[in-house]
Amino acid sequence: MNTETITKTRLKRTNCCGELKESDIGKTVTVAGWVDTARDLGGIIFIELRDHTGRFQIVADPAKNKDVHKVFEMLRNEFVVIAKGSVTKRPSGTENSNLPTGTVEMYPTEIELLNKSKPLPFMLDQAEDVDENVRLKYRFLDLRREKMQKIFVTRHKITQAIRRKLDELGFFELETPILTKATPEGARDYLVPSRVQPGKFFALPQSPQIFKQLFMMSGFPKYYQIARCFRDEDLRADRQPEFTQVDIEMSFNEVDDVLNAVEEVLVSAFSAAGIKVSRPFPRMDFDKAMALYGSDKPDLRFGLEFIDLTDIMAKSEFKAFSEIAKSGGGVKCLCVSGISEYSRKEMDDLKALTMSKDFGAKGLAWITFKADGGVSSPIVKFFKDEEINEIKKRANVKPGDTLLFIADKPAIVAQALGKLRLHLGEKLNLIDTKKHALTWLVNFPLFEYDPVEKRLNSVNHPFTSPRTEDIHLLDSDPLKAKAAAYDIIYNGIEIGGGSLRIYNTELQSKVFKILGMDEKTTRDKFGFLLDALSMGAPPHGGLALGLDRLVMLLTGNKSIRDVIAFPKTQTATCPLTDAPSEVFEKQLKELHVRIVEPK
Ligand code: AMO
Ligand code: AMP
Repeated sequence: MNTETITKTRLKRTNCCGELKESDIGKTVTVAGWVDTARDLGGIIFIELRDHTGRFQIVADPAKNKDVHKVFEMLRNEFVVIAKGSVTKRPSGTENSNLPTGTVEMYPTEIELLNKSKPLPFMLDQAEDVDENVRLKYRFLDLRREKMQKIFVTRHKITQAIRRKLDELGFFELETPILTKATPEGARDYLVPSRVQPGKFFALPQSPQIFKQLFMMSGFPKYYQIARCFRDEDLRADRQPEFTQVDIEMSFNEVDDVLNAVEEVLVSAFSAAGIKVSRPFPRMDFDKAMALYGSDKPDLRFGLEFIDLTDIMAKSEFKAFSEIAKSGGGVKCLCVSGISEYSRKEMDDLKALTMSKDFGAKGLAWITFKADGGVSSPIVKFFKDEEINEIKKRANVKPGDTLLFIADKPAIVAQALGKLRLHLGEKLNLIDTKKHALTWLVNFPLFEYDPVEKRLNSVNHPFTSPRTEDIHLLDSDPLKAKAAAYDIIYNGIEIGGGSLRIYNTELQSKVFKILGMDEKTTRDKFGFLLDALSMGAPPHGGLALGLDRLVMLLTGNKSIRDVIAFPKTQTATCPLTDAPSEVFEKQLKELHVRIVEPK
């Protein structure tokens, strides 16, 4: 086919493909889009024309219109056409109940071929089975698919709902720089060399954290930004090197003011995705979440809470447990129903999983209380009858239940039993998938001990304020101090986090000191913040939502890459543009940068 067949005169679109229905019968419409499928049934050609709203069947019959049929004969998948005609009812028996427009069709009286297409590297309706790298290389095709279009329309609606609500609540949308200085969110920075300042680098922001605090010191009462953030960290299904936050900050506020505003925003965002949630959202203490679920992002769509048996085990004669219990460790169990008939091999597999590197336990012990009254267990022999009764009572055991025990340092018990809980929740179908479990996690510790660096680290970031009642602990026992910080958890995933900030120079300097930063480092890195704090900083605080994660969950996707239009791969590359890529020697010279090849 030569280009002359591509028309120059333009029809004008009047309707979208997906919106046509029986009430349009008799109307003359013009639709435009891509040839989704073309079938030639002995001269009569049926085409499903697709646009962002759906598909609509157009038909050409040589007996009715030779010219139109001639154009139809040239059409192949993904050719771009515009066609005008009158909407008709499909003959009885030829309706397509799978298609919203399946009861109507059109025999165009005019059609124009606007563009043709090479054969595609993959069929759009088979894209789900195509290697993700290929989908990402041809992302413009991948995004043409109905499923992807729906995701991004929902993303748009969610973003707009968030903007509307924040505007309504009096937040100003303000922008912060992308070429900036390192921010302390704990990941590696993406650096940008400066041409005009030899040997110096900008860092891309890991978040707008410091700038949004400066806005508060500038007197803006409420700020928000749909902000791009950059973090060079190990990637996972819910992590991208470049991602988007709904970043929020307000002044003269308490924790409740932030939580209330964020709840309103989330209710609107969920509603934009067709999900109704009600507020206030429940709040859970960090300590309680760790004690019952072993996680600071518990999935609360199901129970299976930890049962603490440390005190009972400390008194028992079972050395493997009593020694751990007496030396500061913990012994906890899950009470599980539905596995009492597991074979020895199935139990051993569960044990091997618990002892895998990822889970980290040193063993898994169990006691099954069979429905017929019998007991099966490798450890029951170590316990007296009273002890077994005490355990049964504490764990509220019913016939057919199995107790799964892990003994270790508290952090390992939390991690291993927490992962086992999630594994069993999924495997035994305990998760109520209709539930939308939104929970605030509050009262995080301010610091944690970093055994590698042998010093304290901020759990959140160093600008997080301790709770007022805990400030005195900074001198005596900083690890005991709780932060005025909060995370919002949805179905076991952290979708946002924030805190009240330190607004007092002395307190900020003290925290830097506790973190082991000397005065010079503090001055070099955060001097401008300390200056601002010393010139009339109001009390302030805020939070950032991970917009991509939120959209991923609200659209029912498992990978964050599915809801980012042009994402990076797991190895932080872009197959579409082939970035990152080499640059000309001349550019490197200008930037005062030399490449050292890895050995
Ligand atoms: P934080 O580091 O907790 O807080 O980030 C806030 C939220 O951003 C999302 N998120 C990510 N999403 C995708 N890919 C990533 N690599 C990634 N990293 C984080 C998460 C997280 O809850 N400045 C503070 C906020 C504040 O204190 O106001 C901050 O950035 O959903
Ligand atoms: P042992 O007496 O060491 O053979 O242990 C008896 C049972 O207790 C085995 O099933 C082990 O897997 C289990 N066990 C040993 N140590 C632990 C531990 N730290 N946590 C959980 N189970 C353990």
